[in-house]
Amino acid sequence: MSRRILVTSALPYANGQIHIGHLVEYIQTDIWVRFMRMQGHEVYYVGADDTHGTPVMLRAEKEGLTPKQLIERVWTEHKRDFDSFNISFDNYYSTDSEENRELSENVYLALKEQGLIEARDIEQAYDPVKEMFLPDRFIKGECPKCGAKDQYGDSCEVCGSTYAPTDLLNPYSVVSGATPIRKTSTHYFFKLSDKRCEQFLRKWVSGLAQPEAANKMKEWLGEDGESTLADWDISRDAPYFGFEIPGAPGKYFYVWLDAPVGYYASFKNLCAKRGLNFNEWVKPGSTTEQYHFIGKDIMYFHTLFWPAMLEFSGHRTPTNVYAHGFLTVDGQKMSKSRGTFITAQSFIDTGLNPEWLRYYIGAKLGNTMEDLDLNLDDFIARVNSDLVGKYVNIASRAAGFLIKRFDGRVSADAMNAPLLAQVRAAAPQIAAYYEGREFGKALRLVMEQADAINGYVDTVKPWDLAKDPAQAAALHEACSVCLEAFRLLTLYLKPVLPTTSQAVEQFLNIAPQTWQDVNRPLTADAAINAYKHLMTRVEGKQVEALLAANRDSLQATAPAADAAAAKGKDKAAKSEKSEKADKASEKADDGIITIDDFARIDLRIARIVDCKAVEGSDKLLQLTLDVGEAQTRNVFSGIKSAYPQPEVLVGKLTVMVANLAPRKMKFGMSEGMVLAASAADGKAEPGIYILEPHNGAKPGMRVK
Ligand code: MSP
Ligand code: ZN
Repeated sequence: MSRRILVTSALPYANGQIHIGHLVEYIQTDIWVRFMRMQGHEVYYVGADDTHGTPVMLRAEKEGLTPKQLIERVWTEHKRDFDSFNISFDNYYSTDSEENRELSENVYLALKEQGLIEARDIEQAYDPVKEMFLPDRFIKGECPKCGAKDQYGDSCEVCGSTYAPTDLLNPYSVVSGATPIRKTSTHYFFKLSDKRCEQFLRKWVSGLAQPEAANKMKEWLGEDGESTLADWDISRDAPYFGFEIPGAPGKYFYVWLDAPVGYYASFKNLCAKRGLNFNEWVKPGSTTEQYHFIGKDIMYFHTLFWPAMLEFSGHRTPTNVYAHGFLTVDGQKMSKSRGTFITAQSFIDTGLNPEWLRYYIGAKLGNTMEDLDLNLDDFIARVNSDLVGKYVNIASRAAGFLIKRFDGRVSADAMNAPLLAQVRAAAPQIAAYYEGREFGKALRLVMEQADAINGYVDTVKPWDLAKDPAQAAALHEACSVCLEAFRLLTLYLKPVLPTTSQAVEQFLNIAPQTWQDVNRPLTADAAINAYKHLMTRVEGKQVEALLAANRDSLQATAPAADAAAAKGKDKAAKSEKSEKADKASEKADDGIITIDDFARIDLRIARIVDCKAVEGSDKLLQLTLDVGEAQTRNVFSGIKSAYPQPEVLVGKLTVMVANLAPRKMKFGMSEGMVLAASAADGKAEPGIYILEPHNGAKPGMRVK
């Protein structure tokens, strides 16, 4: 029977690029969705960008954009990346949509109606310079246990202890460097501690497919009758990029309130386009199914808040939530310095085939929350041996003979060969693995079939048969069996390799395959088309290029070709020296200065808030520096050739001379200078490097 299924992947934040960690999830969901579609079910797969919240707001500010401009650009990038990996969303939308505003307001008002919303005054960290409340991630300080500097408000990365943000010693705002103060404001809470929520969640959790997830949930729920669930703070104060709460001016929905509602908003938008009845899917008693694929890090939101929000706002609840583990590369967390923080875009731009990654990730995925590793050597070996060596090879071995000798037509009799019966017999087990999200097992079984087929080819030796005209019938049979077997493998791999499958369908001159086509063999009615190469091997140097493309660009040295320009820039830097400083050094003609002389120079840590090229200058970069003052400083610096991508400096700390007399330059006023290292003789050969303090330094600190 055909089922009606709504599927989602988590909505990626709109403040960063899609990377291979994300792709684990979108590839996992897409394989499942494509498989279910092949089964003939009515499946809708929706996604969206998760656009609201403080990080997006601050990121936009940093880039000199409005939040709307930023999220529009990121949406285009995300969509491009998902398209290049063939993620088959039926709709890719945004949480910053009218549908989402309306649905979020409705959910909130319904919860309020149920008596599940409560206003409460709470005291929170507040940045008095930036005039905003600070989320925990925006406060750093010294660990109260071990004294390590620069630690976040929840836990110490050095000693591992956890604590409250208020326990941090010498806390500072990551946004402005200011010391946070405590400030009270009214917040709205979703009363998850309410008996009704507890009772509902206890029941709902028993339906979770993954035992690990159910266990985690039970841990969170505590002992029966004494729920340990805390109420959930769903409001944030202005300034905030999000939806204002109805009846609460200046208060906004916390991003995690409207993010899951974004699933429904995207689907509602799709329903309007496709003429579907939205309510039929989202109201209690719906006979449709609803699945959310997520990473294990966001389970709390999807197995507690989201079902409870739905249940008590007059909606149906999710059929299931499927959590996956985290991706590591070569056994370690993805890292920018190693180049393993691999973006989707770089993968495509470097010329790697997205189907290689779809296959490798698929082969690594099971239905648990276990982490998975992308081992780069294994990636090369596996793709080359499975996809090129075992799979594609079968077609290339058989197609030539069939076209040259038999008009490109298979022998109908061959379709009953025992080998083919065996390959077809694997279909139900492969299907069961796919449906159960055991993709690794499904693909292993497919490759076992490929091994059997290659074994057959090695035994019948078509290349020998071809030499003997008397063996024409045997050759025809062998090639036909191979191609039919290849068709079956292609069908089995179709959820994972949509592009290759399509190319094979054209090559075999058949209609797009569904799962039912397992029992619809190739016929002699139509000729196959000439074999075109279906997939190339992964080369080691492609993977090296991929890592190089993702290595933190600040660690790369400036290109040597810039040497001439760098020389000029050095001069530009010198010409910016203030007369005062020159005079100070004049006092001692032996070049020695006193400590007092040195103390006259106000050196400070500065955060590079913005950095861009100056139109009309081939030497200068324009830097906006935060030195812990109310206003930022504008500084022109002749370091352009060393930093051809000025944006890599944004967010970095450096050292500036803060009491340099302001100097009017052609492009505007320069209010100080940043310190950079270069060769003593002014030759630019070894390059120019701006100074960067050790971890822990904050904007405004003095350098003495
Ligand atoms: N915006 C939230 C989700 C809101 S859903 C209503 C979010 N965004 S995210 O961009 O941080 O992550 C999107 C998804 O990618 C999450 O499910 C997350 O678990 C997954 N992954 C992010 N990094 C990952 C790995 N390194 N490995 C596997 N999955 C990863 O969370
Ligand atoms: Zn510590």
